Amino acid sequence: MTSKQWRVHNPAGRRRVIVTKELPGRRWLDVLTAADCRVEIGTSPEVLPTEVIAAAIGDHCQGAIGQLTEAWGEDLFRALQAAGGIVYSNYAVGYNNVDLAAATRCGIPVGNTPGVLTDTTAEMAVALTLAAARRLGEAERFLRAGLYRGWLPTLFLGELLKGKTLGLIGAGRIGAAYARMMARAYGMDVLYYSRSANKALEEDIDAFGRFLATRGEPAVACRRVDTLEELLQQADCVSIHTVLDETTRHLIDARRLALMKPNAILVNTSRGPVIREDDLVAHCRAHPEFRAGLDVFENEPKLAEGLGELENVVMVPHIASATGWTRRGMATLAAANVAGLLMGYPVWKGSDIQPFLEDSPPRAAPSIVNAEALGLGAVS
Ligand code: DGY
Repeated sequence: MTSKQWRVHNPAGRRRVIVTKELPGRRWLDVLTAADCRVEIGTSPEVLPTEVIAAAIGDHCQGAIGQLTEAWGEDLFRALQAAGGIVYSNYAVGYNNVDLAAATRCGIPVGNTPGVLTDTTAEMAVALTLAAARRLGEAERFLRAGLYRGWLPTLFLGELLKGKTLGLIGAGRIGAAYARMMARAYGMDVLYYSRSANKALEEDIDAFGRFLATRGEPAVACRRVDTLEELLQQADCVSIHTVLDETTRHLIDARRLALMKPNAILVNTSRGPVIREDDLVAHCRAHPEFRAGLDVFENEPKLAEGLGELENVVMVPHIASATGWTRRGMATLAAANVAGLLMGYPVWKGSDIQPFLEDSPPRAAPSIVNAEALGLGAVS
């Protein structure tokens, strides 16, 4: 990558920060400028190899904002440490692309961007669920191909969601937001499989169920299950909202797909490798009534062989968080992580990051995932 592929903002800034991709909005630049940063922004849309990022860090760099498509491992954190680096932030809520242990060994705090993706990503999970249930991809291709010859009683029969059972794998912020949307809008009962109980989610959905009952409508309820197997067997629609780590890689494989109902729907807006994609292709081929809605893929940007030809799979290219508001918010949070630590502020303790999006944001770094390991003080 040539120097022409780095755009410089606020060239007179005392602190040098690299940002490996153009980010939306302007506020993030204002945040870094206010922290006296010279910001060098990579303008190439290609994924930057590690050696290109290391070269951009050079021998003087106080902070960096990187992407989920880049491998931030020992080599980059050592390079950042050697260049006088104080902080790194991922431009994402997920950080499976970051070797957190290596960053911590190098004394580099790692930021992420929680909170602003919650509803946007949950809405995409809803969209994929509906698109899969009602066969939107297939139906649109059919129409655009000029194959529509008029209304037919049997044309593109799909699945009704109302009153069915939703299975949630992971009940953190995004999973819980999606479950609330599906329970409220489609009267779905919710089962969830998660490391920890989400009592607030259970209470919300149960309370909505009681409200429905007062109106003489079928109630909904939310229950945590002990095993993933139970969830897969009982749910009509399963949506994945877990982090990717060694315990969740290939969590959904041929054996577990075989437990699902033959006409079930599987949605994934978390991370691609949670599903063994070759197994999903084989399962979808063997069960034409089974449907999948995918935002993420095992080896992005590549798709497993045969996936793209399957009519019962609807797919989008990892855009679940792609609304202007969310992507601008992510940029603001990533910049505030970097600027906050460069300014010597403490780490924000609360999970509510909204104040960072408002005028007069807190003097803190909004979300540093290895703050405790590094002994960084926190404020709320
Ligand atoms: C994230 O932030 O982890 C998302 O995958 C981006 O869409």
